[in-house]
Amino acid sequence: MTETLSLPNSQGALKVHGLGDVRLQDNCPLPFLEDDQILVRVRCVAINPVDAKVLDMGPIIGATLGCEFSGDVAKLGPAVKNKRLKVGTAVFGCVYGNHPGQLDNGAFAEFLVVAGDLVYLLPIHMSYQEGATLGVSLPTVGMAIYYPWKFPLPHADTMRQQLLASTNTPRNDPSHAQSHSSPLPRRNDAQHVLVYGGSTAMGAMALQLLRMSGLVPVCTCSPQNFAMVKALGAAEAFDYHKPSCGDDICKYTAGTLAYAYDCITDVASMRICYKALGSGGGKYMGLDPFPLRAHTRRDVKPDWTITFTMFNKPLNLGRPFYRPARPKDRAFAEGWYENTQPLVDIPGLIKPHPVDLGSGGLQGVVRGLARMRKGDVSGVKLIYTL
Ligand SMILES: NC(=O)c1ccc[n+]([C@@H]2O[C@H](COP(=O)([O-])OP(=O)(O)OC[C@H]3O[C@@H](n4cnc5c(N)ncnc54)[C@H](OP(=O)(O)O)[C@@H]3O)[C@@H](O)[C@H]2O)c1
Repeated sequence: MTETLSLPNSQGALKVHGLGDVRLQDNCPLPFLEDDQILVRVRCVAINPVDAKVLDMGPIIGATLGCEFSGDVAKLGPAVKNKRLKVGTAVFGCVYGNHPGQLDNGAFAEFLVVAGDLVYLLPIHMSYQEGATLGVSLPTVGMAIYYPWKFPLPHADTMRQQLLASTNTPRNDPSHAQSHSSPLPRRNDAQHVLVYGGSTAMGAMALQLLRMSGLVPVCTCSPQNFAMVKALGAAEAFDYHKPSCGDDICKYTAGTLAYAYDCITDVASMRICYKALGSGGGKYMGLDPFPLRAHTRRDVKPDWTITFTMFNKPLNLGRPFYRPARPKDRAFAEGWYENTQPLVDIPGLIKPHPVDLGSGGLQGVVRGLARMRKGDVSGVKLIYTL
């Protein structure tokens, strides 16, 4: 049976009007709720660079923009399997905004719909603002790194014990001198992974999870963010502005680096990743279509990913963005949410991205998008409360 609260007949939403043109519109319909979905009353939204990019490069006229949110469950479809979800449950997550096939759904609105299996419960120790910072980064790290590279997922029980042990370590214990604040399992045969753009929201989450998996992340970012990325788990940070950056990473990892996750994915970033990868070759994963001219090594296999394939709906976009429905991606993603929710539930384990709280609700988001376009965002997430 469908559970529900009394709902308004219409809502305010940020609608795409044209190239670079988004406007707050009243009297929009509430999104259509499919059987396996929940309707969410949105409390907070985060701006993702994807929102600015699609608006400038592939606007879908009439669509609702936005892909990261937190809020409260307002209604459940009859086929929602997650028994922890009830009307009123606080959640956070990711939706596919600017959707050509579902114009009425996006995060920058008072209500949105999302699959009940592809949403996180917001734990009591996290605010709505903090939850919104994690909506896209958690699934993206799963789809971009753990899915293709089959890294072992951190186990919640182990993490809980290690977190407890690290909080009980006396301050004068020399092992406490490390700057990392997360539990840091290490293996002797530790495998380095390069996170290009460690201070991006997508990179910061990768640093945390990789470290918890027993891998050793190294990353690039600006020196002002070195302390932040090291606290999240980076074994070392490298300034990507330095011409020697790629060589320095290669030297640091003794020519053994075999994995590069590139959160920037332009010619400069790909070149540095390719220089950093060891002589045995390796795998490169971008978060945008990678520039072919920077693919300069036969022993490196490049790829790029779109997190939204996890919804198992076709992405009816032009090349290179078109994707058919992918049931296997959905199956992985459902398992990913189920297996990472216990990590989210452990107080202090997953660090939200630093919040830069804007004002003005949905109208404020329009100003935030302009700021995002200017590149005026470093090591923070732009958040708006509705
Ligand atoms: N494929 C997908 O499904 C998907 C999903 C989500 C996001 N994305 C993409 O992933 C990327 C990261 O998103 P995000 O939300 O994590 O970004 P973000 O947090 O907004 O990124 C901000 C950071 O980017 C770094 N940066 C900016 N320009 C740079 C450059 N030219 N070279 C190196 N670093 C640069 C800055 O690092 P410093 O200040 O330290 O220099 C800054 O801290 C975006 O391109 C986004 O479009 C893709």
